[in-house]
Amino acid sequence: MADDKRDDSPPGGISRRQFLRGGAAAGALGTAGMLVSEIAEAAKKGPAPVAEGMEVFGPGPVPIRLRINDQRYDLKVEPRATLLDVLREELELTGAKRVCDRGTCGACTVILNGKAVYACSQLAIDVQRQPIETIESLARPGYLHPLSAAFVEHDAQQCGFCTPGFVMAAKALLDHTPSPTLKDVQHGLSGNFCRCGTYAGMREAVLAAAGHMDDDDLPLGSGDAAGAKDKAAASKGKGGKAHG
Ligand code: FES
Ligand code: FES
Repeated sequence: MADDKRDDSPPGGISRRQFLRGGAAAGALGTAGMLVSEIAEAAKKGPAPVAEGMEVFGPGPVPIRLRINDQRYDLKVEPRATLLDVLREELELTGAKRVCDRGTCGACTVILNGKAVYACSQLAIDVQRQPIETIESLARPGYLHPLSAAFVEHDAQQCGFCTPGFVMAAKALLDHTPSPTLKDVQHGLSGNFCRCGTYAGMREAVLAAAGHMDDDDLPLGSGDAAGAKDKAAASKGKGGKAHG
């Protein structure tokens, strides 16, 4: 028979509960103490040695030069600033959206050296003097770029939050592949997510815009944007219908 009067208190006259509480506190203090001592030790050693010939930037702001939408920008930013940080917070070019901020959704897509890239995954300091295109490069007051017009005509957005990223991914594709197949379009847009699920409309729009990227921008509200429908019909013959 079990002895339910068994005294399992730790030695020293304190209760089991007090003992456990005390142990936890001591453990926490021990860990904190270890970290503090490590930090103190690291501080004594000073900054890590720099290899000969290696240039060190920061941690404070450093001067950089960016080439965005054919304009030169000279500014000072911390070396840790991403291209997306600089676009949105320093230059007020807010077309590229910050959603995941970790290179998974494509909302921040811009074109760097002709390739679609995630602006949140590029350090601004690393992309100096390279041609960068943002969605703002397609904007002209009162007019719609043929690609934007095709997105409108094909109901290729709902909330629209992902749209600038998709448009730039589409532009990068069409700049290189002016007459893409449906498969090319699917592949070209595969790095972008749309939470509203307007993929079919976007594929239609990209196929419709194919071959029309050099056309004149369409005046807003003039009814000319309806011409994109004709382009869509024409391009379906070329590229196939975009569903799935
Ligand atoms: S915000 Fe850059 S990939 Fe999502
Ligand atoms: S239209 Fe809403 S996330 Fe794509």
